[in-house]
Amino acid sequence: MAAIAAHRSGPLSGAARVPGDKSISHRALLIGALAVGETTAAGLLEGEDVLRTAAALRTLGAEIWRDDGGLWHIAGRGIGGFAEPDGVLDLGNSGTSVRLLMGALACHGFTTFLTGDDSLRRRPMARVAHPLRAFGATILCRSGGRLPLALTGTDAPVPITYEVPVPSAQVKSAVLLAGLGAPGVTTVIERQRTRDHTERMLRAFGADIETTAAPGGGASIALHGQPELAAQALRIPADPSSAAFPLVAALCVPGSAVSVAGVGFGAERSGLYHVLREMGAALEIRTPREESGEPVADLIARAGALRGIEVSSERAPTMIDEYPILAVAAACAEGTTRLRGLAELRVKESDRLAAIAHGLTACGVQATIEDDDLTIAGCGGPPPGGATIAVQLDHRIAMAFLVLGLAARRPVAIDDDAAIATSFPSFVALLRGLGADFRALS
Ligand code: S3P
Repeated sequence: MAAIAAHRSGPLSGAARVPGDKSISHRALLIGALAVGETTAAGLLEGEDVLRTAAALRTLGAEIWRDDGGLWHIAGRGIGGFAEPDGVLDLGNSGTSVRLLMGALACHGFTTFLTGDDSLRRRPMARVAHPLRAFGATILCRSGGRLPLALTGTDAPVPITYEVPVPSAQVKSAVLLAGLGAPGVTTVIERQRTRDHTERMLRAFGADIETTAAPGGGASIALHGQPELAAQALRIPADPSSAAFPLVAALCVPGSAVSVAGVGFGAERSGLYHVLREMGAALEIRTPREESGEPVADLIARAGALRGIEVSSERAPTMIDEYPILAVAAACAEGTTRLRGLAELRVKESDRLAAIAHGLTACGVQATIEDDDLTIAGCGGPPPGGATIAVQLDHRIAMAFLVLGLAARRPVAIDDDAAIATSFPSFVALLRGLGADFRALS
């Protein structure tokens, strides 16, 4: 754990090599471990969260290794092939690890104990436990549906139809992964579309999974259970949630121009980039294409004036992890930005709604929360800065406020840079390579 300060920087420039997508990396390991044969994953994110998933899967009996060329190999155990772990699975900071694993374990007839760090033990697991119990799993959580928990999977699962009550790709994915082990068709209905990496990857591995329009709105995803998944050679795109940090830094630091190639750009992940363009950002989206079954594009950001806008709650699922960095863009913009419908931000790695508002206020930017909405009064240029932000084990709060410091009049420090390794271990080096003035504090 070390404190670090971001100082106002000269123009940032260059091509940023952003690591692999966190969501897709988790799924590559997990679905690879449930397949038959050896799956390979190129460009896998080697961040703490994904390494936790790899370690947990090894404990469940899967062989997973990285070769000297950086390619990851996963020897699949087949659906239903996990073995009872003899210890507690500690998923660290990673909500995706714990929730997706719970799904995959629901149809394995043994007991697993799961826990996580101080942040993860505060986060709600009932949203996943509830539908998994309907398959026949027994799940005992701490009060408030919190970790640690014990999950005993069922050997005689029944497929379910489940309407996800909050927009959550993690809940949807947990149900689909449980559905792999159940005979018959498991159906998930989501009223608001969330990231569809699980659906895409299961399809690529040969599962019979179909997404159709749901009566009454949204989508209905039907999965035929107990397929044989065939190992794949996967290439993981750059993470749009990580690419957002150097790109927004370039938009806010005068004179900058930064590009990121091969960024995941699916409709459910690219909301931030469309919002930034509506704010007047000089953000080019080049060569949209598909790679390994996922939409990708090359992005180029150039500094320029931004203007505040209103972002409706319907857009939240397409940019749920990007609000901390969007708030930084809003702080630099001219005029007011209103971000609506941010209830889900309260249950992320920290209470992000509060963390963003407190951090901005400490940096001299007016930010107010009303119900689930956040209003930010833009500074029309460099925000004042001059604060130290308590990261609270939240990687995206850490990175967002360091980016704010690059544009602000006075430095912005974070109290702990360790959390950044969760999703973007090369963040500090990468931004420094573009010209960021980050200084370690003793
Ligand atoms: C994720 C889904 C999102 C997101 C998280 C990763 C995933 O969470 O915030 O960082 O990989 O499915 P919710 O689905 O809970 O909103």
